[in-house]
Amino acid sequence: MANNNEMIEWFRSSSTYINAHRNKIFVVLLSGETLASANLPNIIYDLNLLHSLGVKLVLVHGSRPQITAALAASGKQSAYRRKLRITEAHSMATIKQVVGGLSIDLEAMFSMGLRNSPMQGTDIRVCRGNFVTAKPVGIHDGIDFQYTGKVRKIHTRAIEQQLAQNNIVLLSNLGYSRTGEVFNLTGEEVATEAAIALNAEKLILFIPSDGIKDSKGNLLEALSPADAQTYAAALAQKEDTESVCLSHALDAAVKACANKINRSHLISFEKNGALLQELFTREGNGSLVSTDSFAELIDATIDDVVGIIELIKPLEQEGILVERSRELLETEIENFKIVKLEGTVIACAALYPYADNRGELACIAIHPQYQKNGHGDRLLASLELRARTLKLNTLFVLTTVTDHWFLEKGFVAASLADLPEKKQQLYNYQRKSKVLIKNL
Ligand SMILES: CC(C)(COP(=O)(O)OP(=O)(O)OC[C@H]1O[C@@H](n2cnc3c(N)ncnc32)[C@H](O)[C@@H]1OP(=O)(O)O)[C@@H](O)C(=O)NCCC(=O)NCCS
Repeated sequence: MANNNEMIEWFRSSSTYINAHRNKIFVVLLSGETLASANLPNIIYDLNLLHSLGVKLVLVHGSRPQITAALAASGKQSAYRRKLRITEAHSMATIKQVVGGLSIDLEAMFSMGLRNSPMQGTDIRVCRGNFVTAKPVGIHDGIDFQYTGKVRKIHTRAIEQQLAQNNIVLLSNLGYSRTGEVFNLTGEEVATEAAIALNAEKLILFIPSDGIKDSKGNLLEALSPADAQTYAAALAQKEDTESVCLSHALDAAVKACANKINRSHLISFEKNGALLQELFTREGNGSLVSTDSFAELIDATIDDVVGIIELIKPLEQEGILVERSRELLETEIENFKIVKLEGTVIACAALYPYADNRGELACIAIHPQYQKNGHGDRLLASLELRARTLKLNTLFVLTTVTDHWFLEKGFVAASLADLPEKKQQLYNYQRKSKVLIKNL
């Protein structure tokens, strides 16, 4: 944090999220790649913090790269079909050893109470058990998957009892069959099925990148399940580890969404604090797959000018917004962010940088049918982020009817003299707009 005020502001604004998350079940997948990351101690610390804030945590760990390495070290091959490892009987001893070792290491990390460790003074119980019943995947296209299994049942009552006692529940990618055998599952499947069975608030999946990116490399902050499915299919065609991990995570998120888990978060395991940023700030971090996120927040392009005109015309006619010609919009389009729903622009807002590190927020409009859904708030947060990136330190806005909305977002009343000189000269005294500013 740059200064104390910023820290105080952030801490106050996080209270909404703290209250919203308390007593909710979050299922968190720690993939094998996550367990191998140098950032793991920070993730454990942040999970510990979530637990202290009253979040009920069910952790599921994977072990894909560790199993591959251990099998290779003992001279055994692993074949994959349908994105699944074929688990041969002679591999199971190694797999049990690897998975058991990883579970124990995680328990140890949650037990650290040493001075100078992040968990000093905390007393967290992590519990494991036979909470997952498995069944064999079986034979497909003549290929016997042997000890590769699927989730048959998640024992929700037993898990809920542990959560009610303030314990963290730790599951792995192993499950036990009614016949007493051990099956190798995928961490993604266990996490998804656990989230569905427990009716979790969120499924959180750690991934090896900042989030899902479009073809131009832009981060997609929110994806609909349909988009997530398209990206999963494209990534599944690639063979590099990152694409494979992302495609598994997206598949899990899509399945969770189809089963009433509305919010699946894909968060980088490399980035220190990404989990906290995603859960406790408006800006978030990573990619959210959500049934509520059909509306995507994106930078406007020249193709969106017509949509913006249709949205703002009625507000211009009412005198709420200043009139803008099509030509002006076309030249200024890169200042705009929009929210698009199934190809239609349903919200827009613009940021105009001025000299002296100041910027104007303008043309904020949400289609009447979509107001009170947080689109205004998301647009504002996104433009504030852009303003910070541009190293602006003050935002101002001129408004005739919306001052209270801006006041609630941290703006304060100001006077004409607080505006850049160029803006002062353009001030329309007939409109009598109020001036509001916000220091970033
Ligand atoms: C103001 C506006 C941008 C808010 O967008 P939104 O997506 O509905 O905003 P959010 O969902 O983030 O917030 C909704 C909250 O703001 C409140 N709100 C909306 N307009 C408001 C106003 N003029 N004054 C005070 N609060 C207002 C809503 O009542 C709601 O509060 P509630 O949940 O307590 O009922 C939108 O109403 C709009 O487009 N208005 C017309 C255009 C306009 O005035 N633009 C500003 C020009 S400077």
